[in-house]
Amino acid sequence: MRLDKYLADMHVGSRSEVKELIRKGKVSVNGAVIKDPGLAVTPQDAIEAAGETIGYQEHFYYMLNKPAGILTATEDKKQPTVLDLFPENLRKNLSPVGRLDKDTVGLLLITDDGALAHRLLAPKSHVDKVYLAKSDLPLVSEDAERFASGMTLSDGTELMPGKLEISGDDPCEALVTIREGKFHQIKRMFEACGKKVVYLKRLSMGRLQLDPELAEGAWRELTEEEVSNLSGS
Ligand code: URA
Repeated sequence: MRLDKYLADMHVGSRSEVKELIRKGKVSVNGAVIKDPGLAVTPQDAIEAAGETIGYQEHFYYMLNKPAGILTATEDKKQPTVLDLFPENLRKNLSPVGRLDKDTVGLLLITDDGALAHRLLAPKSHVDKVYLAKSDLPLVSEDAERFASGMTLSDGTELMPGKLEISGDDPCEALVTIREGKFHQIKRMFEACGKKVVYLKRLSMGRLQLDPELAEGAWRELTEEEVSNLSGS
């Protein structure tokens, strides 16, 4: 692969930015400064840019704290999408894993690893998703029983058992755990109990927890440990 493509694929910068770095003599391959952006390199070469080792990464994994008002999609003609929160040179092949409603906030995994996304979303993978939900009306133990028994929604959709843990401090607040990701699932589960979700935030997906340091709209790369935990989620 060409050196400039390798650096751009490893998210060092856009193709023109990395060409500029190379021309300025800031890039070395196996210890030698290289000024030819077209030099053929392989993942086995020791490549440095601006003093940093640029190891080969097959896939990229990001955690986004999704803000309200943004679509979980890769592109949309009219509305901003979660990918618009990433710089252009990082967006290549990235997709959100699963979908949060426009008004839902919190943890969204974004990756170019389609096989992992597929595994995490497959119903038989049984990946638990935990949400903080706020209701317009106080939640009661009968609601928790309905969640636990695997309810049938008004359109006949049958759901796997979920968990509703009502907060001891505020009966309008609860942690909700579900395994599937059906359209508006939690909102429809609340509706089936005669309540309306007024706030919804995803806190975790399998073993991946939303980083409490991430402000809404902010993202970061997953650590190696988080990535390896995901495969075992
Ligand atoms: N359930 C919902 O109703 N909305 C979401 O965004 C996620 C789960």
